[in-house]
Amino acid sequence: MSMTNTDTFIALARTDFPPGFVWGTSTSAYQIEGARREDGRVDSIWDRFCEQPGRIRDGSSGSVACDHYHRWPEDLDLARALGTNGYRFSIAWPRIIGDGHQPNQRGLDFYDRLVDGMLERGLQPWPTLYHWDLPQLLQDRGGWMARGTVHAFVDYVDAVTRRLGDRVAQWITHNEPWCTAMHGHMDGMHAPGIRDVASALQASHHVLLSHGLAVPVIRANVPGARVGIALSLHPIHPASGSADDAAAAHRHDGLRNRWFLDPLFGKGYPQDVLEALRDAAPRIEPGDVEAIAVPTDFTGLNYYFPEAIAAAPGTGPLHARVVHREGVERTAFGWEVAPSGMLGLLRRIHDEYGPRELYVTENGSCYDDEVTDGQVHDAARTSFLVRHLAALREAIAAGVPVAGYFAWSLLDNFEWAEGYTRRFGLTYVDSATQQRILKDSGKWYRDFLHGAAPVA
Ligand code: NOJ
Repeated sequence: MSMTNTDTFIALARTDFPPGFVWGTSTSAYQIEGARREDGRVDSIWDRFCEQPGRIRDGSSGSVACDHYHRWPEDLDLARALGTNGYRFSIAWPRIIGDGHQPNQRGLDFYDRLVDGMLERGLQPWPTLYHWDLPQLLQDRGGWMARGTVHAFVDYVDAVTRRLGDRVAQWITHNEPWCTAMHGHMDGMHAPGIRDVASALQASHHVLLSHGLAVPVIRANVPGARVGIALSLHPIHPASGSADDAAAAHRHDGLRNRWFLDPLFGKGYPQDVLEALRDAAPRIEPGDVEAIAVPTDFTGLNYYFPEAIAAAPGTGPLHARVVHREGVERTAFGWEVAPSGMLGLLRRIHDEYGPRELYVTENGSCYDDEVTDGQVHDAARTSFLVRHLAALREAIAAGVPVAGYFAWSLLDNFEWAEGYTRRFGLTYVDSATQQRILKDSGKWYRDFLHGAAPVA
């Protein structure tokens, strides 16, 4: 059961946030588009992964998902009706790669129309170039473990930014490199389902390198481009006051957070992690570390939950484990609800790394929503949203340069290994009928964005 802070009243107004603040929602291609075989799309690693028995909790896939490929005008109307002024989505590489030699124009045409649809509705487009749907043909050549994928990514980014750069200024290279690398190659929970620490670290290096090499290409194709990367970061706490737990928490933080932040901000890979994982260390070529440290315009934070860590000799490569704390509020996914964690992370990133700007590129919660009389009364999600926005307001008041917030997600969608069993949307989606119903949380966001200053 989840608890909400019903005894806490928070008054929030859009005007509490800086002028020009970007208010949005966030989605990704494989999770919403469907249309698996349309207009020259080729298979991605997720199409194949979903076909393997036991990989996806409900045996589903993103082959149809929210059918957004056909229903995008309706979905963008929803985003507009919320009063958002930005929309974060991802571009599906499998729609663009074609035969691997020439970009597929029909795939580019789709995003061309989608971007125009956003602009017509006053939604600033925030595309992510890689949200986990690697073309299978590249996986067949080694995927992110192979250096060739880095160059293939840069070619793909070149094609996309040439086509859309006249209308799109903001570009996010990667979504959550930790997940690409570690869920994809260490714990095997995500495609391509590999379980090998060295492969995971090699993949992480190639993902970061592909970011570093793509940034100058984006800048060359898009005058005035603003480029960044979206990282999943977690506040990490020792589970007890013991020195062993503190050391374990530091190691865990090393791979979870610093492994990505440090090289992106010119500090190189953290020595303690390199030493702890030396047998699995990635191959790094001369110039790579410099390329990864290319200056960016913003850092995207995807914030969900904190972790408590205990020392656990023999567990995983870092001899650390996540401790399930009792008596804390959780979402239906079991993730701890901790708005102060977002505040702490924003301050940490600002203090220790100093990006020019920060955006919360994802934040949201999963609950077991039900439709009652055509409505979805998801008070817990509203409470989650309100409390996180209050934390965001505090971060800004403390001087952290946060310039936008994107709620995950506009729609209930395909939650990767969890299939359709986890609903994160501000809009409920009935997968059988594709009907969309704005949840109470979505109505709260809409009223907030329209200046109604609701109290929750
Ligand atoms: C992170 C990912 O970017 C997104 O794809 C996922 O659905 C949400 N978090 C929720 O888990």
